[in-house]
Amino acid sequence: MADNTVHLSLEGTDESIELPVYSGTVGPRVIDVRALSKVGYFTYDPGFVSTAACNSAITYIDGAKGMLLHRGYPIDELAKHSNYLELGYLLFYGELPTKEQYEQFANIIRYHTLVHEQVHNFFKGFRRDAHPMAIMCGTVGALAGFYHDSLEASSEHDRKVAAHRLVAKMPTLAAMTYKYSIGQPFSYPRNDLDYAANFLHMMFSTPCEEYKVNPVLARAMDRIFMLHADHEQNASTSTVRLVGSTGANPFACISAGIAALWGPAHGGANEAVLAMLDEIGDDSEENIQRFVDRAKDKEDPFRLMGFGHRVYRNFDPRAKVMKETCDEVLSELGVADDPKLKIAKRLEQIALEDDYFVERKLYPNVDFYSGIILRAIGIPSNMFTVIFAMARTIGWISHWNEMVSPGSVKIGRPRQLYVGSDFRHYPADK
Ligand code: ACO
Repeated sequence: MADNTVHLSLEGTDESIELPVYSGTVGPRVIDVRALSKVGYFTYDPGFVSTAACNSAITYIDGAKGMLLHRGYPIDELAKHSNYLELGYLLFYGELPTKEQYEQFANIIRYHTLVHEQVHNFFKGFRRDAHPMAIMCGTVGALAGFYHDSLEASSEHDRKVAAHRLVAKMPTLAAMTYKYSIGQPFSYPRNDLDYAANFLHMMFSTPCEEYKVNPVLARAMDRIFMLHADHEQNASTSTVRLVGSTGANPFACISAGIAALWGPAHGGANEAVLAMLDEIGDDSEENIQRFVDRAKDKEDPFRLMGFGHRVYRNFDPRAKVMKETCDEVLSELGVADDPKLKIAKRLEQIALEDDYFVERKLYPNVDFYSGIILRAIGIPSNMFTVIFAMARTIGWISHWNEMVSPGSVKIGRPRQLYVGSDFRHYPADK
């Protein structure tokens, strides 16, 4: 129901239109512009800077306050008291689980971790040096060819089974991309381990010796998953929704989300942060300042990776938790004086005091510290975005489920401001 209206009138004409205004629970109000197309106008908003494309009850971000809420709960409280699977249940089902619901959910995930044995053959078709995100796009989309009983978007049963399968199988596929790249045999999942510990086991165990999961690293991994689980209508989630609006199956939708996440302006930034720290190399004051100056120079394409965010104009609340986790992991591993961390901390300090960054409200985002943690755990940088994709899968599938559950979905179809040639005939003399 509209709680207000705006009137648009075109100067010099008697054209005018009344548009309803809606309020959400919190956050900016929205003007419902749907009636505009009936009178021959479209709105123009490249990059969706001012456009809400849907209703959602999953995640709320207040970028000015640096606040991130999942189903109303702040991310820092969740990171402290909860774990990835509980958060996943909350995102998908809408409420925190009871103890029994949690046990049941964790069990379902545990017993869906194996991938069909023929999926292994897919890997052999890739070059060993293929980017793991390329393998993820291919293999996750291919799951639709294996799990025919969970493809129907209109069926609540299929949607739940697809969500469970995706959350359960993503770590298995992710670890397989790594094992394939280094020429080691795949490690099968272990049902006695929890979600994050099982992922570390599949990444680092070999048939030759026992692998003991370090609980501090497993907890850090779980936190990384939590901090990446959902972030409302970002580029990859919007991609999943757009693809889902066509009625495409959930595996195809998530594969499209993975492709969108791959870009360096989105999920690829964590890999780009490490590449940037490597490029900076030397931790001298003059050298770090040189890179800060390059980031400010409009003629230079160099940007400080891990800084800035479309929505946050304050500290990314996830970056704060990530920084704490980073300190915990480095001290557990006895590498607290990691030179990359030293450069990162100095870079952060300079940028937070520099007018260019202060005026533009460019703060470190979630990716600034996650790469340092992952590298310390022994995960190569080309796997960072894969880990982001694993973690974000629950967010993507929750948004897809929210969109398709009411039964009728309007296909996503943006309009354009056409600036090409007007109608013209093919030249007769050509
Ligand atoms: N380094 C230097 N300058 C920057 C940076 C940066 N990292 N980010 C933004 N700016 C500047 C822009 O040049 C622009 O300056 P201007 O007003 O003088 O022209 C101003 O800040 C605003 O930047 P926009 O590009 O308009 O902001 P937008 O919201 O479109 O982009 C983005 C956000 C893509 C995240 C950008 O800040 C960026 O490229 N950051 C680096 C990549 C990164 O860390 N991405 C991860 C995002 S978080 C995630 O996906 C999980």
